[in-house]
Amino acid sequence: MTSTHYDQLYTEFLNGNQVKGIEELVVRLHDAREDGTAFHQATEALRNHKLFDLVRKDPYTDHSMQRPRGYPGDAELIDMIYRVEPKGDPDDFGRSIFDRTIACGASEAVRQRLKFARELLSIAVANGQSVCSLAGGHLREGDDLVGQIQLPFTVVDQDAQSLSVIRNTHGDAIEAIEANVFNWLRTAPRDGRSYDLVYSLGLTDYLDARQLLVFTKLAAKIVAPGGKLVLANFHDHRWSAYMEAAMDWYLVYRTEEDMAQNAKDAGLNHRMFRDATGYIIYCEMWV
Ligand SMILES: C[S@@+](CC[C@H](N)C(=O)[O-])C[C@H]1O[C@@H](n2cnc3c(N)ncnc32)[C@H](O)[C@@H]1O
Repeated sequence: MTSTHYDQLYTEFLNGNQVKGIEELVVRLHDAREDGTAFHQATEALRNHKLFDLVRKDPYTDHSMQRPRGYPGDAELIDMIYRVEPKGDPDDFGRSIFDRTIACGASEAVRQRLKFARELLSIAVANGQSVCSLAGGHLREGDDLVGQIQLPFTVVDQDAQSLSVIRNTHGDAIEAIEANVFNWLRTAPRDGRSYDLVYSLGLTDYLDARQLLVFTKLAAKIVAPGGKLVLANFHDHRWSAYMEAAMDWYLVYRTEEDMAQNAKDAGLNHRMFRDATGYIIYCEMWV
């Protein structure tokens, strides 16, 4: 992808063909990603091109680039995906790009992940199980369960703003702990922490293989006998290059083999499946 390609796309956008333009950009960036150096250059060229100002009229892309909370994939961004509602009040041009980017397969996979989490939680809550959500964000999967959740139900997240959303929604019914999950997990077993369901969705995609293994082993230590640990991780997909180049959103993509190896190295049994989009791998583990 060169400046000339971006010039052509810029004209396309200005002619009112921004949805087609975004789709072309996604395909071209995806192709460029085959070659690491070329992709790095394509990313730099895009971010310095006037086309990027037009692309950033999309509130979803722009929020990701801005990282208002200082880290990628914050809960506000994830809320935009869940609600299919832009933050702020984009003009028609930005709105039309938003409608395309928010509908992409990766975003759909995140919405399906929420559906999965809702089912997981409602079964646990209905059965009176204890639950620990690691890197829980706004815990949107619990929104329909207000008044039904009972302690022990713990959410750990590093982001104080996200935790106040949970406290405002659930009051004292949920223990919301502000901590780095690694630090918290290191002392949790000593503090007598033990849960029937321990899960983490949207965190492992930021961990390298060594960190994932450490995290899995630590999390497994707070799983009660007969309980389970559930993780979900993105598989590579056709929008990943757009996310990286235009949204500065880099994930660690994994295969079933990677997830199986991780479970094995952690000394855990596992069961795996993919969602209907094929973009997210779910891994349930138990001792
Ligand atoms: C992509 S969001 C997912 C939130 C939620 N699980 C969901 O599925 O909607 C990732 C969350 O992980 C949290 N996070 C990232 N690294 C963390 C860490 N090391 N310790 C605690 N929380 C972390 C962020 O604050 C953010 O809320």
